[in-house]
Amino acid sequence: MTGNPPSLNLSPEVLSIMGETGFAYLAKAREIKEKKGIPIYSFGIGQPDFPTPKHIVEAAKQALDEGFTGYTETAGIPELREAIADYLNERYHGEVSPEEIVVTPGAKTAIYLALASYITEGDEVVIVEPSYYAYAMVVKMRRGKPVFAAADFVPGKGFVINTDKILEKITGKTKAIVINNPHNPTGSIFSPSQIDGLVEIAREKGILLVSDEIYDNFVFQGKFKSLLEYEDWRDTSVVVNGFSKTFSMTGWRLGYVVARKEVIPRLKALAVTMYSCATSFVQKAGVAALRGDWTPVREMVQEFKERAELLHNELSKIPGFESYLPHGAFYLYPRISSLLEMTGLTTEEFVNYLLEEKGVVILPGASFPDKAGVNHVRFSFATSKDVIKKGTSLIREAVEELLNKQ
Ligand SMILES: Cc1ncc(COP(=O)(O)O)c(C=O)c1O
Repeated sequence: MTGNPPSLNLSPEVLSIMGETGFAYLAKAREIKEKKGIPIYSFGIGQPDFPTPKHIVEAAKQALDEGFTGYTETAGIPELREAIADYLNERYHGEVSPEEIVVTPGAKTAIYLALASYITEGDEVVIVEPSYYAYAMVVKMRRGKPVFAAADFVPGKGFVINTDKILEKITGKTKAIVINNPHNPTGSIFSPSQIDGLVEIAREKGILLVSDEIYDNFVFQGKFKSLLEYEDWRDTSVVVNGFSKTFSMTGWRLGYVVARKEVIPRLKALAVTMYSCATSFVQKAGVAALRGDWTPVREMVQEFKERAELLHNELSKIPGFESYLPHGAFYLYPRISSLLEMTGLTTEEFVNYLLEEKGVVILPGASFPDKAGVNHVRFSFATSKDVIKKGTSLIREAVEELLNKQ
């Protein structure tokens, strides 16, 4: 038989989605390391380079020793939902009840759960770009249409939300607006007044706001305003958060969705169909994370703040890099248009040159849909100061070589 029978063809939705570039470059870097035997300096993946704090690990071990290994409630064990509600209420005063939380295996599943619960064929979803890639992919999986509204790049400052651009994109089909704050890939924190502007749009137009607040503890400067701080959050918003970044628990897979109580039964129906429940003993570890000692988190955030300054200072010395000081998350997304003009390279060609010639991993801006970041590159500074120093000096060397060739 030649070719596949049609039954073996994948669905158009699955064929339309892209994977995560950070993971793809991780694999590429491993290949280069093996082939060339050169050390790799990675600013690629967004994963804290700190171990999970010990008391969290101990809580998981204890849960395993006690045989806490069965299925749990789909929405998550009550003590974890209570701990999450207490955490959110202490910080954001939204009076979230444990019945308004669904625990998920990682924030990615929370993003899927939140968007798939609301979006159907033909719905338009406005996504502030550049954006974490998963939002647009889930919208596509639901046969919705991602519509991108660019944040403005303000040289020397970073990115700001432009509510006029968002308003321009709203049509009768717009169902939701997705934001992420503090922001991956830019390291910007959208100011309280920018968030007020979005909430105002949601209220006036009856559009749902989906807010991914997974970096809410990575705030170095300025104020982060959660959507849960608005008294009427239940009428406008669904919030996604998780443990991966704050507690350095990326591999544990623990996240959650916060939504008004009335929709939780449907979210749970989808959740039980997708994953039954988050891993039992990981949920116990989550309780220890939220209720335990936050000193390791504070120390890590302080270290990240210092790295943000170091990386910005080092990049500012490189010709063609328009850097700025990131205020949150652990990313920096400089514009490199003049460097591209001077060298005649595309962003992808420059990124590949750095990887192949110098062993330095950074990500092309367009990995963060849609097109607002084509002339940018993303650095994750979830890596040591030594790597930051060595990696940026290699980038400087590469840029000088490329400019000398002109
Ligand atoms: C904005 C944003 N949301 C969600 C995630 C995924 O988090 P998790 O590993 O908990 O699924 C990431 C990971 O990089 C992220 O940057």
